[in-house]
Amino acid sequence: MTFKSTIKTIQWTNNISRMINQTVLPYKFETVDIKTAEEMYKAIKDMIVRGAPAIGIAGAHGVSLAALELSKNINDKNTFLEQLQKKAEYIKSSRPTAVNLMWAVDKQMKLALNTEGNIKEITEILIENGIKLENEDIEINKKIGDFGAEVVPKGAAILTHCNAGALATVGYGTALGVIRSAYAKDPSIKVFADETRPRQQGARLTTWELVQDNIPVTLITDGMCSYFMSKKMIDMVVVGADRIAANGDTANKIGTYTVAIAAKYHNIPFYIAAPLSTIDTSIKSGSEIPIEERNHKEVTHINGDWICAEGVNIINPGFDVTPNELITGIITEKGILKPDFKASIKNCFTV
Ligand code: MRU
Repeated sequence: MTFKSTIKTIQWTNNISRMINQTVLPYKFETVDIKTAEEMYKAIKDMIVRGAPAIGIAGAHGVSLAALELSKNINDKNTFLEQLQKKAEYIKSSRPTAVNLMWAVDKQMKLALNTEGNIKEITEILIENGIKLENEDIEINKKIGDFGAEVVPKGAAILTHCNAGALATVGYGTALGVIRSAYAKDPSIKVFADETRPRQQGARLTTWELVQDNIPVTLITDGMCSYFMSKKMIDMVVVGADRIAANGDTANKIGTYTVAIAAKYHNIPFYIAAPLSTIDTSIKSGSEIPIEERNHKEVTHINGDWICAEGVNIINPGFDVTPNELITGIITEKGILKPDFKASIKNCFTV
């Protein structure tokens, strides 16, 4: 089955990184051309590109752009590598939670440092590798989709939170990849999409993707999920992830934890769909995951208008951590990891 949203979210084209501008969807469809590491930092920070795997690829492209820029003015290889490392660290500081960003940038830097060739050759290799990671992302998501589709019951109503779709990756999506693969096998499935305050990725992006693909989707506000679970209108939950600790604790968009608690109470399977690059084996548990605090305006304003009393206190964490005991399985490109996650994750990285 082919889907209309096959356009790549981010793509290397003629020495620029071209990305869909996710800040204006679904009102407007436009792409933005990123030409420097500094522009990439801003595009990630301002969420023109967002979603863990997509910002990973953005980070990889950012290093390629930095190499291109530096190669124009620097002749000494050591100076080039030193400057490249600085730009890589700068790109990584754009958002703290999604580990895919650090994973991809570090992968690029390791390659740069281990390449024997001259500056031009290193730059070319970085560009090639960025494109390779870009293409691999879609393949990985299709594998996640296929593994995940196996655990979707016939005619299931699936709840998802935020956007873990084609827009959060290069294409196809992780949680929405599972939904796409399941729908290809069984067009009687349907989706409930949480609105996902404050930035409304569910309302703006998930519904946009699913409506294009003619996958039946019902938009609900974040507080409604337990009501629909109690009415037996939801059969399973699938969400994405920004960082998974070695014990399976999972950081994802704020509100995910609430959905997981509600799912546990109602005995509904709760799955995470994520590539292995989202698993951070260097940290033991979710308490070590850095949680991004975002601009308070995201909470106080909607479309530029105040929605609360001026002077009110605001806290705006972008993510929360779902404890591993609330997770039924972690759907990866290598299969579905099951509890005990500490053991299954360790096993996955040692096999
Ligand atoms: O702040 P965002 O929009 O980048 O947050 C995105 C999410 O939380 C996604 O669920 C997660 O990155 C997984 S995307 C496949």
